Parts: sequence; C-alpha cells; structure tokens
Amino acid sequence: MSVNQNVPNYTGDIAAQQVDPSREYSSENQEIVFSEDQHAIWADLFEGIHQPYLLEHLCSEYRSGLELLQLDPQRIPTVKHLIEHITPRTGWRIERTVVRYTLADDWYKKFAQRIFLITDYLRTRDQMEFTPEPDMFHDIFGHLPFLTQEFYARIEDKFAPAYLKATTEEREVIKRLAWYSTEFGLVVEDNRFKVFGAGIISGRKELTRTIMEFYRLGRDNVIDYTRNAFDQLQNQFHASKNSLYRIIDGVNALHHKGQMSSESQGWNVVNSMYESLGIAREGIFGGEVILVPFNVETIARIPKTVYAFNPMLFVCESLAEMDAILDSYLKPIAQRA
Ligand SMILES: [Fe+2]
Repeated sequence: MSVNQNVPNYTGDIAAQQVDPSREYSSENQEIVFSEDQHAIWADLFEGIHQPYLLEHLCSEYRSGLELLQLDPQRIPTVKHLIEHITPRTGWRIERTVVRYTLADDWYKKFAQRIFLITDYLRTRDQMEFTPEPDMFHDIFGHLPFLTQEFYARIEDKFAPAYLKATTEEREVIKRLAWYSTEFGLVVEDNRFKVFGAGIISGRKELTRTIMEFYRLGRDNVIDYTRNAFDQLQNQFHASKNSLYRIIDGVNALHHKGQMSSESQGWNVVNSMYESLGIAREGIFGGEVILVPFNVETIARIPKTVYAFNPMLFVCESLAEMDAILDSYLKPIAQRA
C-alpha cells in the first residue's frame, strides 16, 4: 500500500505503513543490491544539490561532515561505508530498516541507543524536487554528514531521553522541536542565515525556496546584512508577534481541516489565508516562508505540516544557542525520576 493514499485529508505525521516484521533487516543482511535506475536517481539527486551556489548556503558543520563522509556522487553508499565513516567519530551507528516512516516511539528507542535508522526506500523520478516522505536520500544525504560531527551527535542525544519520559503533550512539543531544528532549522553563521535542517538540505525545492527568502530579506530591506542580522530578525519578530500568532492560528486551522496536505495546496491555502487575515505581504511576511528566531514558545504553537512546504522556519543565533534552547526544554524532562 502506498502511504500517499492517505494524503488528501491527512493532517498529522506521515501515515504508518504496515510492515511484515519478517522482512526487517538483521545485523547480517544490512546491504542491498540496488538497481542501476536507483543509482541513477541517487546520482541526479546528489548532483541537484551538490552545487556551489547551493552548498554555500548550508551551514559549515554540514559541509565539513559531507567531506568526511566521502559519499560517492554516482552510487548509493553501503551501510558498511557509512558506519566506517561515522561510528569512529561520534559513536553513532547506522541501521537499515524496511519501515518507510518510523513511528516516533520506535525511532526514539533506537535513538536512545545511538542508532540512526535509514530506510530502504528511495523516492521515484516524479519526486525529485519534493517528497514529504523521508527516503534514503534524505536520511543519508540530509542527516548523516552531520553525524560525523560531535556537536550534532550531542544535539541528537538530547531528544530520546526526554521523549521517553515526556507526557503525551510534551511529546508533541519535542517532535516539533526536532522538526524545526534537525529537520528544518536555520542558523546564523558569519552574519548570514544558513540551512541546518536535513529536510531542507535533501529537498531541492524547499532548499531553493529558503535561499530565495534569504536574498529577498536583503533585497526588500527587511534585513540589512551589513548589520547584525539576527538582532534585526528578533526586532522584527517582537514588532510583528501579533500578526505572526494570528498566522500560526490560521495554519493550525488549515492543518486540522486537512488543507495543508499537499505541496501545491499547502502554499496556496497559506497565501489566501494572508488575504483573509488582512495581513500585508511585506516585511517578514513578504516571502514564501517566514523566518522567526528559534524559540520554544512559538514552535510549540505551530504544527508539523508534513505534506506541504513549511510556512515558517526558525533561526538559531548560533549552534551553541540551539543547544541551550533545546536543553532548557528537554533537560528537565529527561532528568525526571
Ligand atoms: Fe529526517
């Protein structure tokens, strides 16, 4: 069964897939023989993003990690290759799974053991620019370069211990914090906004759309990059908080009605929402995505709009700041008896 059959009215996490447990990989059969077509899809996805004009907008941890991981642009890597390049550096291990989108509870149990799951599914040719479902290109190209980096391993280490002790409500916040940091986070580096989240890095359409917003903010004089960019973003956020929270309420309403359930519909309904709220498309609201300083209060309010583009992305002043903000929410939960 294709998980996409549920898309039209689906609002939450990607639908769980029925898996025959007997098909799950064991420690002895982690490797797959891929078809030449699959290697060709990998090569095209790799080339589509591995371009200097895109890479320069990715944060430096990612770029260093990508070099260390030594992925072959033409061939899907073996699990052995990934483990050899990651485990000695950060202790994280990689395991293949047949589950195409792992339920958060199972995922976090593996996370607690410092095991990162990669799926055996690769997107098809009609999903080269955007796929809501994390496939192996997302898992490997988006996340694994980071897992060579101590900082990232430390960030990933925070989620599972808190998640496993959290209440249902807190679990939802934790999933959103993970979504808007490791999947769709942005970070400031050298006074420029850079992409941190693996979901943006592995999806050409959302990546280019995000980069266009970095440029638009400069072009429309919303952010003057010769001055402190993050301070200006903070000021804009505080000055526009009212409108911003009305937009978030609107996104929640659309999301619950299942109206953010596809790439095109998602953006179109957000566009018309601005109109109905009477919010002018200017300043921080003038682009196709709103950049907001990373903070727990706002992230807790906005849903994961899995099937559509994210209408809002969150920017950390630095990776150290991301570390501190995540700790402020996750540590007290993780330390519960
Ligand atoms: Fe991911």
